[in-house]
Amino acid sequence: MGIKRYNSIAVAIHWLMAILLICMFILGIYMVDLPKGSDERSWFFALHKSMGLTLALLALIRLLWKFISVSPPLPDDVTSIQKKAAISTHNLLYIMMFVQPISGYISSSFAGYKTKFWGIPLPHWGWKSPDLNQLFTTIHQISALFFGALILLHVAGAMYHLHKKQFHLFKRMWF
Ligand code: HEM
Ligand code: HEM
Repeated sequence: MGIKRYNSIAVAIHWLMAILLICMFILGIYMVDLPKGSDERSWFFALHKSMGLTLALLALIRLLWKFISVSPPLPDDVTSIQKKAAISTHNLLYIMMFVQPISGYISSSFAGYKTKFWGIPLPHWGWKSPDLNQLFTTIHQISALFFGALILLHVAGAMYHLHKKQFHLFKRMWF
């Protein structure tokens, strides 16, 4: 009783994005080792790009929704240092929800062919540039490491509260 929860749209987008993001990390790591020039590699790359752009759209909807809806304040049994840690992690997660797909999209735009979104070719503003392609691929890889570490930190925080039997904190983001 009396738990202030995130609204159902925020909860639905949180868990949908969480599942899709975990799939994207596995997919990204798997596909880069596939043989160059193979149909399988192109298929997985196309899937990764379409899913990644879908995630960018979901992140945009999520951010807009965060501004127009009300996020519940953290309860009093969370110490002020924990509040600061949670809020900073959430803010960084929001930044990475954009940096990750945008760096991937820019690197693809300099690969020399059109990026497709679920089969639909997107406007091709880039050109073939191995140097720029490599630069943004490196940014995408470093950003994946940072984003992955942040997600692990965030999940560890949630697990810590479960371990401390502060189930009401978990319920804030549950259906
Ligand atoms: C899969 C394991 C995950 C668990 C167990 C989990 C758990 C939670 C919980 C319990 C909260 C509520 C915190 C509070 O009381 O205020 C929360 C919020 C949040 N989570 Fe997760 N989460 C997971 C994955 C992710 C992922 C992959 C992301 C990356 C985008 C993410 C981003 C956020 C953000 C930004 C918030 C703050 C609420 C908002 O503004 O949307 N979570 N999470
Ligand atoms: C939030 C969404 C995304 C996540 C979590 C993600 C994650 C990853 C990961 C983990 C890798 C493997 C890095 C490595 O080990 O080399 C990767 C590679 C790649 N991603 Fe993404 N990605 C996302 C979105 C995108 C988007 C939107 C595009 C393009 C439209 C894209 C294009 C690529 C490409 C081309 C590679 C291969 C880079 C290489 O050749 O090493 N990604 N991604």
